[in-house]
Amino acid sequence: MVLSERWLKRSVFLLCLAPLGWLLAQALLGGLGANPIEAIIRFLGDWALRLLLLTLAATPLRLLTGWTWPVRLRRLLGLFSFGYAVLHLLVYTALDQFFAWAAIWEDIVERPFITTGMLAWLLLLPLALSSNHASMRRLGRRWKQLHRLIYPAAVLAVIHFTLMVKADLREPLLYGAILTGLLGLRFIRR
Ligand code: HEM
Repeated sequence: MVLSERWLKRSVFLLCLAPLGWLLAQALLGGLGANPIEAIIRFLGDWALRLLLLTLAATPLRLLTGWTWPVRLRRLLGLFSFGYAVLHLLVYTALDQFFAWAAIWEDIVERPFITTGMLAWLLLLPLALSSNHASMRRLGRRWKQLHRLIYPAAVLAVIHFTLMVKADLREPLLYGAILTGLLGLRFIRR
């Protein structure tokens, strides 16, 4: 059982790295289109959000099926979501804005879609930093309360995507519907 759990985690670890491998391959093969920086930012943002929703799906999945393994993958998925969000922010800061801090600040203050992205990122930061066993022990019951920040973070991430899109709202609305379903299931349980 312990062995199979280890293999499950290793497999999911590799699966979470696969999008990054695909992105690197596309970058090397010149398959990122006319605006590669935008394509990279969007790709990393997509995966940060998908993995965040998968993290949130673990508990509802356990409630619906009785399976316990999704919950044991939650931390790994959450950390990968944050990892993609860090790369998303790094590429925006370094390759899109060339570390022009004044312009970045202006973006944060004046463009609501960047403001919501920044807020989502800032809410995820303490969760990633406290995702280890030592923090869990130190914070006790407060750890659980702190980790409820994942809900507003996910809502803000979906709003961030929705505000960014100018015409075709189908994709952000789909993510919004999935998030509403996942949050709804928890609410019904309570
Ligand atoms: C400081 C934080 C963040 C900044 C500065 C930021 C910035 C951006 C930018 C510049 C874009 C592309 C806009 C364009 O191409 O016109 C984008 C898109 C996106 N971001 Fe963020 N973002 C942040 C945080 C996040 C977080 C935390 C998530 C998810 C957890 C996220 C998910 C997305 C998604 C899903 C897209 C759209 C991808 C697509 O078009 O398919 N972002 N963001």
